[in-house]
Amino acid sequence: MLKTDIHFTGIKLIVADDCDEAGHIICEMFKEVIKNRRNALLGLATGSTPCGLYQNLAEGYAKGEIDFSEVRTINLDEYSGLCRTDKNSFGHFMDEQLFSRINIRPENIMLISGEKDPRTEIERYDSFLAENRTDIQILGLGENGHIGFNEPGDYFIAGTHEVELADDTIRANARFFSDISEVPRRAVTMGVNGILNAERIVLAAYGKKKADAVKRLLSDNRIYPELPCSILKAAHDVTVVIDRELYSCIGG
Ligand code: F6R
Repeated sequence: MLKTDIHFTGIKLIVADDCDEAGHIICEMFKEVIKNRRNALLGLATGSTPCGLYQNLAEGYAKGEIDFSEVRTINLDEYSGLCRTDKNSFGHFMDEQLFSRINIRPENIMLISGEKDPRTEIERYDSFLAENRTDIQILGLGENGHIGFNEPGDYFIAGTHEVELADDTIRANARFFSDISEVPRRAVTMGVNGILNAERIVLAAYGKKKADAVKRLLSDNRIYPELPCSILKAAHDVTVVIDRELYSCIGG
């Protein structure tokens, strides 16, 4: 690990050598939470960023170091219209990357269904979040500063909601699809209240493409909806984990 300190925004900053080391560091944070609470509620994300975390968690289970039998999970978002068996859905991603590799109980997994009526899913999610506190939340970061699918806009949206994806998000996520025209235009996402509901938040970002958003996040104390991740300055326990490549782009 290159560097760790408390930033003036109140956010803890960890600079890992690379995304492999970052995945290991974040996994240790998750392990500690699960060790202290067998039925911990883990807030999970999809995309490239958390893959190292999921690999380390699955290895931890295989080595007998982590028991997921009581652990619960809640995911941030899902594309509208995609069912869990669709290879591009976030539900399918989670099954492949983590759930099929650990001893979690299916009834302890909370995912948004992209094929159900969004209003029903929104109500189900917000009722669950009103009654359950997430113990630790992993977040990836959009190049445009989004967290979950809370896209840049004129205001923050507190609750779970359906969103029109920003053009740059569609472009960034096209790499997971055979053609950009296949990327769904809408998604259902946890809102900022759901994210801030977590006891502890870990935002991970790797590589120079995320440098601009991270620089804007750490450059001042402002919270503003054009930079959705800036809402994290309102949370009490936030750690940003970046790699050395990104750090060098933000003047580190
Ligand atoms: C996915 C999600 C998104 C991603 C973000 C970064 O569940 O909530 O906010 O975390 O788009 O994606 P990657 O990690 O693929 O760069």
